[in-house]
Amino acid sequence: MKQIQQQLIDDLSKASSMKEVEEIRVRYLGKKGLLTLQWKNADFKSMSPDERKNFGIEFNKTKNLAEAKIREAMEKQQAAGSRSIDVDATLPGTDRRLGCLHPITLIRMELEEIFHGMGFKVLAGNDVEEEFYNFDALNIPADHPARETQDTFWLTNGMLLRTHTSAYQVRAMKKFGTPLRAIFPGRCFRYESVDASHENTFYQLEGLMVDIDISIANLIGVMKTLLGEIFRKEVTVRLRPGFFPFVEPGFELDCQCLICEGRGCPTCKSTGWIELIPCGLVHPKVLEYGSIDSEKYSGFAFGLGLTRLAMMKFGIPEIRLFNSGDIRFYGQFPASGSI
Ligand code: PHE
Repeated sequence: MKQIQQQLIDDLSKASSMKEVEEIRVRYLGKKGLLTLQWKNADFKSMSPDERKNFGIEFNKTKNLAEAKIREAMEKQQAAGSRSIDVDATLPGTDRRLGCLHPITLIRMELEEIFHGMGFKVLAGNDVEEEFYNFDALNIPADHPARETQDTFWLTNGMLLRTHTSAYQVRAMKKFGTPLRAIFPGRCFRYESVDASHENTFYQLEGLMVDIDISIANLIGVMKTLLGEIFRKEVTVRLRPGFFPFVEPGFELDCQCLICEGRGCPTCKSTGWIELIPCGLVHPKVLEYGSIDSEKYSGFAFGLGLTRLAMMKFGIPEIRLFNSGDIRFYGQFPASGSI
């Protein structure tokens, strides 16, 4: 064995190309290699147990050494080879940048997965909606002041660009009936003057759960699970009364500021809380519009601002970047979880 080791080291030291190293490998470790034959031809029967053991140990040592030395020699040849290529280091590199997912898409996919885990279907509403579903079916009749805060773009055929994903609530109820657990993320539009935190085009994710005996406890449970998974830690939430004609009671769900943990900082405007998710129990009139018996069933709904959430999660201070089409901005966000 010692002899084989020495011979191998000598041979390798003389090798001057990858081909030669490969030949050496075959000569020693190949099927009919020197080392392989040592094993095949060993007369185990005539050995004592101790001899057999020693032979095994020596053989393995030699084999491991041979493999390591050959690998080393191959790496050496490879490195030498790459150095010998004539490279012009002043040439520009090939641009191998791959496309990437938009930060809103990343956060939407993450949320879809979380809700999937809680048994919610993922539905898609329509960007262009009938006035009835965007307003009237949500208990916002034509003369209701809430319409004023959600002015939007009207099409010449009388349809509109939806002002919120809630516009799909009644359609979803009619289409799927009860029990219903669904989210519908999507693009929304409002007639806004644009600034760092307002856009005329933004994203929301609506959630709707309708079944027997659905209460505020279910709403809080789902919201806490959701926030815990997004921010990867337990978050403290509180409900404040909030008014939306299509929920009763209606709330603003705040979460304790994740930056200062409630002590007060510029992000939470020193209040310790961040307003995050408007929500509430579905108004009986809305259930009725959705052909659901409001005596028997109840439900909750929430309208999460996806754009807002992406701004918080990724620390983006300027909303206009989202629709800017600027690849330098889009490429900065790592996919998290299983995405
Ligand atoms: N659609 C409301 C908005 O855009 C948010 C909301 C959704 C409130 C669901 C309550 C329940 O302002």
